[in-house]
Amino acid sequence: MLKGKKILIGITGSIAAYKVPFIIRLLKKAGAEVQVIMTPMACDFVTPLTLSTLTERPVLVNFFDKGDGSWHSHVDLGLWADVYLLAPVSANTMAKMAAGIADNLLLTTVLSARCPLFFAPAMDLDMYQHPTTQDNIKRLQEYGYELIEPTQGELASGLHGFGRLEEPEVIFQRILGFFDQNRPLAGKKCLVTAGPTYEPIDPVRFIGNHSTGLMGIEVAKALADLGAEVQLVLGPSSIQLDNSIINVTRVTTSGEMLEACNKNFDSSDITVMAAAVADFRPVVLSDKKMKKSNMVHSLEVEPTTDILATLGKRKQNHQLLIGFALETDDEVAHATGKLTSKNLDMVVLNSLNDAGAGFGHATNKISLLTRNNDPVVFPLKSKKEVARDIVNAIIALKEIPKG
Ligand code: CTP
Repeated sequence: MLKGKKILIGITGSIAAYKVPFIIRLLKKAGAEVQVIMTPMACDFVTPLTLSTLTERPVLVNFFDKGDGSWHSHVDLGLWADVYLLAPVSANTMAKMAAGIADNLLLTTVLSARCPLFFAPAMDLDMYQHPTTQDNIKRLQEYGYELIEPTQGELASGLHGFGRLEEPEVIFQRILGFFDQNRPLAGKKCLVTAGPTYEPIDPVRFIGNHSTGLMGIEVAKALADLGAEVQLVLGPSSIQLDNSIINVTRVTTSGEMLEACNKNFDSSDITVMAAAVADFRPVVLSDKKMKKSNMVHSLEVEPTTDILATLGKRKQNHQLLIGFALETDDEVAHATGKLTSKNLDMVVLNSLNDAGAGFGHATNKISLLTRNNDPVVFPLKSKKEVARDIVNAIIALKEIPKG
């Protein structure tokens, strides 16, 4: 559920800090990466050793490590996190946050974090009800920080009232809920192909093309960012994927790509075929290097299976199938032909006539073709932005199946 999500937890000096290991366990079980920052006083309530064992990361308290002199950058931490959860947050830390004070690593990171921040106060009931505390909470909410209200019950002081840290399961659900809102594709399975295929002639030569795989990889990432479970079938590409939330199957030939697609297509809600599959392969694969004098006279080739058309034939109504078309002339007519002949829901059209589009560029210029609609033409953009446009258009297609 939270695979690939990065959660920063800030712990302040409150007895409720003993509940944080339970929150961490829930987040880790859901697949999140968790980094803990503590105020010096928090270390008296729960040991950094417990927290670093659970998170599998060193716990950060100071601006730098006195042992090896390494600097803990609050800027890097703030940029790393998808969410910053302060739990438990004391009246003192909230007062400092409201005033913009940054006298420890936890607070400095509050100021530099760009991600959404949740704060879960915990304290004695009189401290919680004090007008200063209530004013500070209001001010923090005005800054856009999300309050996870404390609950009522018996407090560590023996008094009864509001001030108990919300239960770990409820805090976990709030974090989960936040990610779900931003994940319209949660529960959807997606299959994406990317890269070229190489069709071997002999041990040293192959038939292939200039595709780098970048466009398809960006589409896979954009789908995963919106919550989809993505299976990427990637041809020979030199791009190293640093994205742990995408399942990657590496293939070399069109035959291997076909096999991987056949295996995954039936369970896939959305399939995007961005690979530049080689159209021909040698009829005979020589196990020895062929002499060029023999090759000049005959290199017999046969068409590869059109993977997209094969999947189009067995596509069910609840599935969406998106293909790419790379054209040099009569672009819209040819791409529209592929929309119907391959039984697709959308075609992403690239024209090699557009500067900065197609293979080997960091940018692309596309038109999106859907049935019975005029093509939607997009300006030249980075492939990451183009991928987002494609995924937004997929979401806008009415027939997105239920996950
Ligand atoms: N495709 C495929 N299997 C092939 C060839 C192409 O799955 N053997 C898919 C590509 O992934 C792409 C789409 O078909 O999504 C269009 O590829 P393109 O090369 O533009 O078109 P072709 O159908 O091969 O037609 P042509 O080369 O005649 O334009």
